[in-house]
Amino acid sequence: MSLLIKGGRVVTAADETVADVLVEGERISLIGTNLEVAADRTIDATGKYVLPGCIDPHTHLDMPFGGTTTVDDFESGQTSAAFGGTTCHVDFCIQGQGQTFAEALETWHAKANGNTLIDYGFHIAITDLRDEERLTELAALPAQGITSYKLFMAYKNVLQVDDETLFRAMEVAAASGALVMVHAENGDAIDVLVREALARGDTAPIHHALTRPPELEGEATNRAIQLARIAGAPLYVVHVTCREAVDPIRRAREQGWDVWGETCTQYFFKSIDDLARPNFEGAKYVYSPPARDAANHAVLWDAVRTDALSAISTDHCTFLWDGQKTLGKDDFTKIPNGGPGLEDRLKMIHHFGVREGRISLNRMVDLLATQPAKLFGLYPRKGTVAVGADADLVVFDPEKRQTLSASAQHSKCDYNLYEGTEITGAPELVLLRGNVLVEDDELVAAPGVGQFVRRAPFGRPLAVEPMVTS
Ligand code: URP
Ligand code: ZN
Ligand code: ZN
Repeated sequence: MSLLIKGGRVVTAADETVADVLVEGERISLIGTNLEVAADRTIDATGKYVLPGCIDPHTHLDMPFGGTTTVDDFESGQTSAAFGGTTCHVDFCIQGQGQTFAEALETWHAKANGNTLIDYGFHIAITDLRDEERLTELAALPAQGITSYKLFMAYKNVLQVDDETLFRAMEVAAASGALVMVHAENGDAIDVLVREALARGDTAPIHHALTRPPELEGEATNRAIQLARIAGAPLYVVHVTCREAVDPIRRAREQGWDVWGETCTQYFFKSIDDLARPNFEGAKYVYSPPARDAANHAVLWDAVRTDALSAISTDHCTFLWDGQKTLGKDDFTKIPNGGPGLEDRLKMIHHFGVREGRISLNRMVDLLATQPAKLFGLYPRKGTVAVGADADLVVFDPEKRQTLSASAQHSKCDYNLYEGTEITGAPELVLLRGNVLVEDDELVAAPGVGQFVRRAPFGRPLAVEPMVTS
C-alpha cells in the first residue's frame, strides 16, 4: 500500500517546506517537490501542515491509583490520543511492592495486548529496590527496550521512595544506559502539612494545593539534580509546574549537566483558583503537583520557548468526577490524583502557543514529538518527518475550528479540563506506520494496530533499517 501526501507544509523541529511525502508500506520513502510517482492513494494537503505524529512521554492508562483505577484503558486512552494527533506514548508500568520488574511488565503488556491503536513503550515506576537481585534486574531493563524509569519523591506510604533508593537507581541508570525520571515533590513535608490540614478540618479540594506548596517542588527538584550529578545519571524531571522548579533546571542546563524537564498542557492553563471551584468541581483539578498561581503560566511558556523545559506531556491519568473523584467528597486526601488531556495537547498548544505567538511551529513539533523521541530512545524512527522514518504523520488543518468538550471527546472521562474552549487548528488525518487511524473525525483503524516499541538506550538512536524501495 502506498500513499502520496501532496503539497502540504512539512514541518519538523528544524525546518518547514512545501513538499510531497510518499509513504510505502509502514515508512516514508521519499520527500520532494512535485513528485511524479504512482501511489495507491493521493491526498491533497494544500494549505495543511504535515507533522510528525506526536509522542506523549507521560501517561497512565488502566492504572490502579488512589484506591481506584484510571478510567481510560489502552483502547479508550489510545483512541483519544489518536484523535489528538498522538501516535506513540510511553506509559508507566508500576512495580508493586515486592514485585519483580518482569512481573510488573507482564501485567502491563497484558493490559495493552490486542487493545492498542497507537505505538507505545513502558517506563518502569520503581517502588521497591530492596535487594541486589532487583538492582541486577534493573540494570538489564535497557536490553529489553525499557530505557527509562520514574521514581516518586512524593505520595508517602504509596509510591514514594527514599533518597537511598533514588540514588541507587541513578547509579544503575548511569551504568546501564537509562534515563531517570523523578516526580519531584518533598513527600515527607507534604505529609506533615496534610495531617495538619486535616486536624484543622480543612478537607476541601483546595487544600490539596495548599498542602503541596511550590517550594516543596523546588526543593525536591534541586535534590534530584544534585543526586543525579553525583551518580552521573541523566535526569528528566516530570510535570514541572512553577518557577521554583524551572530555575534549578535552567541553571543545571546552563552548566551543561544532563538534566531535562517536562511540563504538561494543564499547567499553562489551570491555576490554584480552579481547585476552589464550588460544589466539589475543584476535585476535577486535583492532580500532583497541583496547578499553581497563574503567574506561573508565563514562566512555563518562557521555559518551553527557551529550552529550560524540553517537552510537553499530558500526564493523562483520568478518573471520573462522578464516582471516582467523589471518593474524596469529605476528605481531599481521598480524591484520586490525576486528570485527562491526551486528546487536547496538540490542539491547545497549537492554538495558544503557536497561533497566539508564544512559540514557533517548529518549537511545537520539537516539544510534542522530536524531543520526546530523542530523550526516550525513539528517534529517528519516530518524532520527525524523514525518509526511512515510520510513517506516523498528522495532516493538520490549521484553520479547523473545534470546541473542546467532554461530550465530544473519546476518553471515557466525564469531564474535560478545557470544557468550552474554542480552538482553531486540529488533525484531519492521522497515520500510524502508514495505516490510517483517524480521518475526518472518524476512527478508521481497529484495536490491535499499535505495537510495543523496544526503545534505544539513553542517548542512542533507535535503529532504522535501510529502505528497499520499489
Ligand atoms: O496527579 C497525578 N499526576 N497523577 C498521576 C501520577 C503522577 O504523579 O504522575
Ligand atoms: Zn508524578
Ligand atoms: Zn504522571
